[in-house]
Amino acid sequence: MLLDNKVAIVTGGGSGIGEASARRFAKEGAMVVVADIRAHKVEAVAASIREAGGEASPFEVDVADAASVQAMVQHAVDTYGRLDVLFNNAGTLRPGTAVELSVEDWDFVMGVNVRSVFLGAKYAVPVMIAGGGGSIINTASISGLHGDGGAVVYAASKAAVINLTRALSTDHGRDGVRTNAICPGTIQTPPVQRMMADPVALQRNLDAHALGRLGLPEEIAAAAVWLASDESSFVCGEAIVVDGGLRAQSPLGRLADPRPEALRG
Ligand SMILES: NC(=O)c1ccc[n+]([C@@H]2O[C@H](COP(=O)([O-])OP(=O)(O)OC[C@H]3O[C@@H](n4cnc5c(N)ncnc54)[C@H](O)[C@@H]3O)[C@@H](O)[C@H]2O)c1
Repeated sequence: MLLDNKVAIVTGGGSGIGEASARRFAKEGAMVVVADIRAHKVEAVAASIREAGGEASPFEVDVADAASVQAMVQHAVDTYGRLDVLFNNAGTLRPGTAVELSVEDWDFVMGVNVRSVFLGAKYAVPVMIAGGGGSIINTASISGLHGDGGAVVYAASKAAVINLTRALSTDHGRDGVRTNAICPGTIQTPPVQRMMADPVALQRNLDAHALGRLGLPEEIAAAAVWLASDESSFVCGEAIVVDGGLRAQSPLGRLADPRPEALRG
């Protein structure tokens, strides 16, 4: 098992990518603190992990709040004695251009998406160093790599997560704490499924991915497990793109349709 005896916190663990990752981490032998702002969700996910024979403890957290994040790290130490992996995955999106967004929207999204990563590192790094090292994983987005419109604070926040990832690795790599980010393409989680109820949005997203489909939360969890494990021991400061080939193609997709004779081989 890839995470045997490791202690991990997964934020946003009540749904989507975080829930799939908490389940997979536990299957790989980790003791998992399932953390989310929705208490009933963490209770349910942790209970179902335990029913399946894994080890999990629920924790209600607001990742934008310093005292709450500090208490979450302390909960991991109090419950399991150490902390090896912190998956800063909770995130939020508020649509809008710079003109449309309120100042409160800006601060809210930056708090949940960026301050959370700073706070997670602030409180987890000393505990990880005391235990001999660790792995921090941050969920960014392909929106952090491009100037996609319509959600400017989301795009800005995810770009900040990517560079914060690099800065954290520079500061703490020598102490054995690796920090990496994951940039997912469009993944079928509850908020995305609601957006994809619009057939035009769905088709646009299917066309954008070279694989011609959307991703599954489990496919991001697989990358997270690898980054959490010692299998990625020389990977540090990277933003790993897991996007079904979204970035492989230009917005044009194909320049020309394949000729019928080429299709016949
Ligand atoms: N689904 C996608 O296509 C996609 C693509 C790129 C990046 N992401 C990122 O993946 C991460 C997970 O998103 P998801 O798609 O699984 O969504 P989701 O809504 O299924 O899960 C997000 C979870 O975060 C929790 N959360 C929100 N604010 C919180 C807070 N302040 N404190 C603690 N928990 C909080 C929510 O309660 C929710 O359970 C986010 O950072 C998101 O930006 C998602």
